Amino acid sequence: MTDWRAQPVKNLSGTIKVPGDKSISHRSIMLGAIATGQTRVYGFLESEDCITTRRAFAAMGVNIVNQGDYILIKGAGLNGLQAPKATIDLGNSGTAMRLMSGLLAAQSFSSTLIGDASLMQRPMQRVTEPLRLMGADISTEKNGCAPIKIKPVRGLTAIEHRQSIASAQIKSALLLAGLYAQGNTIIHEPGISRDHTERLLSAFGKLLDRREAQGIRTTSLINDGKKSNALQASDIIVPSDISSAAFFMVAAAIAKDSQLTIEGVGINPTRTGIIDILRLMGADIRFDNIAKDGIEPTADVIISSSQLKGIKVPHKFIALAIDEFPAIFIAAACAQGDFVLTGAKELRVKESDRLAAMFDGLVTLGCDCELLDDGIIIHGNPENPFPNSAVTIDSLGDHRIAMAFAMSSLRSDHDTTILHCENVATSFPNFLELTASIGLCIQPTPAT
Ligand code: S3P
Repeated sequence: MTDWRAQPVKNLSGTIKVPGDKSISHRSIMLGAIATGQTRVYGFLESEDCITTRRAFAAMGVNIVNQGDYILIKGAGLNGLQAPKATIDLGNSGTAMRLMSGLLAAQSFSSTLIGDASLMQRPMQRVTEPLRLMGADISTEKNGCAPIKIKPVRGLTAIEHRQSIASAQIKSALLLAGLYAQGNTIIHEPGISRDHTERLLSAFGKLLDRREAQGIRTTSLINDGKKSNALQASDIIVPSDISSAAFFMVAAAIAKDSQLTIEGVGINPTRTGIIDILRLMGADIRFDNIAKDGIEPTADVIISSSQLKGIKVPHKFIALAIDEFPAIFIAAACAQGDFVLTGAKELRVKESDRLAAMFDGLVTLGCDCELLDDGIIIHGNPENPFPNSAVTIDSLGDHRIAMAFAMSSLRSDHDTTILHCENVATSFPNFLELTASIGLCIQPTPAT
């Protein structure tokens, strides 16, 4: 267990580069593993979650080696994975568990997926139910949670599936299973979710049809029988993770007289809800060095201090900022007026119940807020957002809750203790080094 003590700091400045994107790093391993040929992945995120995925594929016979500034994946081909000798433990990673459910449902061997205490409580029927409709033999516990047990079947059949929520994890699980299915896999979503799987599948030579009508996004994986089903390996450059950059965007926005440049951040439009929301709140955010020629667009993000104001978050931005709300709530506490978020019940089933965890922490810090079933109202106080002294906040082992509360030290006059920060390593292993490099003062303390 690792706890942190965050000491008050008034301002920050500098140029930083945050580590690679977690979503893209997971997918690069999965697709590289089942491709034909060698995939070089530049900027792979060496975090616990992504290392877990890498280890899982190594346990299925895939050769993955570090080569200095890239990792080299020697693709086993679509049907080249080998039966793992043991249960696959995916630690804290919901992405690994949901996406691998789709991929493993199509293999000719049995597998069992487990995770840590948090992951074993997260809903998995959202992927296992549609996979069963494709013919998969896949089961969860009665409560819909892992262990996920998968047995081989003769073949999968493509389905047309209507998701009740916009979710890249469900969509990606079905697309990965769809690689092995007869016919076109068609997925309808009630909004936009991140499209990294689609971009990578296209780069690996698959044909996809993507369209939007009346707010419904439809993604079709075309298996027209004319092209070989094989994925052709391709180099992947992983941009810096906008979800990790989010903490620093909020930091620069709420601190006095501050400016930060965050280099090479992924600005895929399905991920930039944090920027849309912060700009609506009055933040000063600019892009420089925009590069749109790779699989994923990137830019340097320059963000300066501003007087933020409360907003009612437009629902269309929720899925585009789904992982960034813990950081956004810290900004909201420093804003003038009311910040209102509704329609965000999904936040209750992330690595923790993020609505409850953030509400509890904000109240402990002295913020005035109201917890809703599907959101939160934060009555911002720009003069003194975090008035309470000697506070201890429990991050509940959720990396993004820990990093969000670390940023409150920029607007507090007191030390803040944050408990159970060890899982920051799941997404952002050098967080403390980077925060120190721009002037923050956050230190591990002996755990209680
Ligand atoms: C992810 C998708 C999101 C996000 C998660 C990573 C992905 O979840 O919250 O951290 O890599 O596909 P949903 O797809 O369930 O919204």
